[in-house]
Amino acid sequence: MADITREIGLSLGADLCWPLCYEGIMKRLDLAIPVDGDTVRFHVERVTIEPFDLRQPCKYDVVIDRLTHWLHTSREWIKKSILMNDLYVFNNPWSVQANEKHTSYCAMMALGMPIPETWMIPPKSYEPSPDVKPTLQRYGKLFDVGKVGAKVGYPAFLKPYDGGGWRAVTRVTNEKTAWKAYEESGKAVMHMQAGVKDYDRFVRCIGFGPQAQCVLYNPDAPLHDRYTMETDFIAQAEWDHLRKITMTINAFFGWEFNSCESLRAGGVWYPIDFANPCPDSQVTSLHYHFPWLVKSYLKWSIFCAATKRKMPKTLNWEPFYAIAAKDISFEEKLDGYARIADERFETARFEEFCAKHLGHLDEVVWEFFATQEARDAVRLKVAALFPAHEVEAFTELFWRRIQKWRADQKP
Ligand SMILES: Nc1ncnc2c1ncn2[C@@H]1O[C@H](COP(=O)(O)OP(=O)(O)OP(=O)(O)O)[C@@H](O)[C@H]1O
Ligand SMILES: [Mg+2]
Repeated sequence: MADITREIGLSLGADLCWPLCYEGIMKRLDLAIPVDGDTVRFHVERVTIEPFDLRQPCKYDVVIDRLTHWLHTSREWIKKSILMNDLYVFNNPWSVQANEKHTSYCAMMALGMPIPETWMIPPKSYEPSPDVKPTLQRYGKLFDVGKVGAKVGYPAFLKPYDGGGWRAVTRVTNEKTAWKAYEESGKAVMHMQAGVKDYDRFVRCIGFGPQAQCVLYNPDAPLHDRYTMETDFIAQAEWDHLRKITMTINAFFGWEFNSCESLRAGGVWYPIDFANPCPDSQVTSLHYHFPWLVKSYLKWSIFCAATKRKMPKTLNWEPFYAIAAKDISFEEKLDGYARIADERFETARFEEFCAKHLGHLDEVVWEFFATQEARDAVRLKVAALFPAHEVEAFTELFWRRIQKWRADQKP
């Protein structure tokens, strides 16, 4: 019987609040988990950005990565460490790099999901290069954005094919506004997507390994109110449906931490945005839901590190296509996709592990979110984002919402 320490690295950018809470709770948990006759403990530290030898070892067992989608040095260090040092990260970095919103739409259309009618449009302008002019002169076909709009139907959304962060998203209602949005889109390659009309629910489902949380979302509210605190907004069967959609997408793309937005219209759920493999983790957006997120970070990373879960290095799409090809209803297919996801995310083993080794975690988290340490972490994030004269008021607002979560979730 040996004493083993698993190293968990936090690869961070602007994140302030959840890492402090994660570290604070880890300390309080003081875990010593028996695994295969050994006693496993955990050490958490922050990953630095520096030159690296491609053959150097990697000290971490698991890295919680918040940089792959934009900081290339970190992404390439992670790729090297997966390939050479058996590192585990939640989101397959090759998949993050290659699979844009566009690919996610195509793949989920192929699996039978009701993605709204979507067209890709060549960009309005190009980075000058010797090949651009002859290529477009020979093969670029003149087109009418208005006609694409008529095919898709108005209202429609013009948005970048690789979108994220609400960048350059425009709702257009006729030919004139469609042209205007296109004229202003510059070098971006755009989608024109049919707007889901008269939707009565907008839900963001956050998937974290096999864990899921559905939140009622209000896109028209200011940033700090978009995640609502509603708890009773869909039936259990719809909750299960949205979890299966999210798990399917995440298992398909090798993303273990991702969020999926779906709109309900006429009783049908339309997924519209689900390539977000580094979802917002800030207390300033999540507030009431923030403790759930911190808990999910903890449980999944502890499980992966303790059990030395194997990082799936490649994607395997064929089993999904085999189900898609069957002559069965979409709901039956979705059940099949979700079964693959539950196998890949080891749902049963994870739940057993949490019940056996992390039984006290809920209470430790619940107690932590009453401490000055937690309040200071919230304040730090608020101070980084809000003007000085609003810091107190917003810290208090988010803190009150966290206390509401504590009142609702008393263990
Ligand atoms: N097909 C659609 N039907 C209705 N509303 C839509 C549709 N597409 C986009 N929207 C609206 O535009 C917003 C931004 O679109 P989308 O989520 O696709 O872009 P994004 O850049 O990925 O945004 P974010 O990262 O904030 O989620 C959505 O939250 C929604 O309010
Ligand atoms: Mg979105």
